[in-house]
Amino acid sequence: MFISFEGIEGSGKSTTLNSLCAALADEGISFVRTNEPGGSAIGRALRPLLLDRDQQLAQLAELFGFLADRAQHVSAVIRPALEIGDVVISDRYADSTIAYQGYGWGMDINMLNWLNQTVTGGLAPDLTILFDLEVEDGLRRVFSRNADRAGQTTEERFEAEPIDFHRRVREGYLKLAEMHPQRFRLVDASLPQEMVYGQITDILAERCSIYLS
Ligand code: TMP
Repeated sequence: MFISFEGIEGSGKSTTLNSLCAALADEGISFVRTNEPGGSAIGRALRPLLLDRDQQLAQLAELFGFLADRAQHVSAVIRPALEIGDVVISDRYADSTIAYQGYGWGMDINMLNWLNQTVTGGLAPDLTILFDLEVEDGLRRVFSRNADRAGQTTEERFEAEPIDFHRRVREGYLKLAEMHPQRFRLVDASLPQEMVYGQITDILAERCSIYLS
């Protein structure tokens, strides 16, 4: 079972994933939690290069960086885990490229689909959970989190993009969900954390027969 989590900046994926993974461990379910960019050892080296707000990364360099990360992630982490029967939970996967580089930057979606298909060898998630909320709400959360971190990170390149970029990314995600109704489930990420978590456990029960308290 391969499950991806997607959403705009500040949608609260990481916090919910912490609770979810603790519950999976309590149930004795064997799983791998991973993320993009940075799920493999090579990906962890690429991540700061891709997200550093102080770098002027050319759009194609950025695209191929995310794709290189994904190719390595699939081959070194995701496929081996699926082969031994682990549940794989990835914070972002191929849909991020369609939403950010495609809808956000305006790159050709057919080309991106083809590149995604190539680097993943056609491996798509069984289930994609999309955290949806208003862009303004997401960015407000991001800015208050960054204020707490007080300059301890430079991984803010996308967060610094204008609000219209984030609107296009959100619209892109919603279009993807519409195009793949079997694979996507939406959660209302504007709700309090416990309610978001409740929506996830309902989806996992319905779609994956995984029952968590
Ligand atoms: P995050 O892992 O902390 O959410 O940050 C990853 C950032 O990288 C986020 O702003 C989305 C962006 N991204 C892309 O633009 N394209 C991609 O293919 C992926 C995986 C991430």
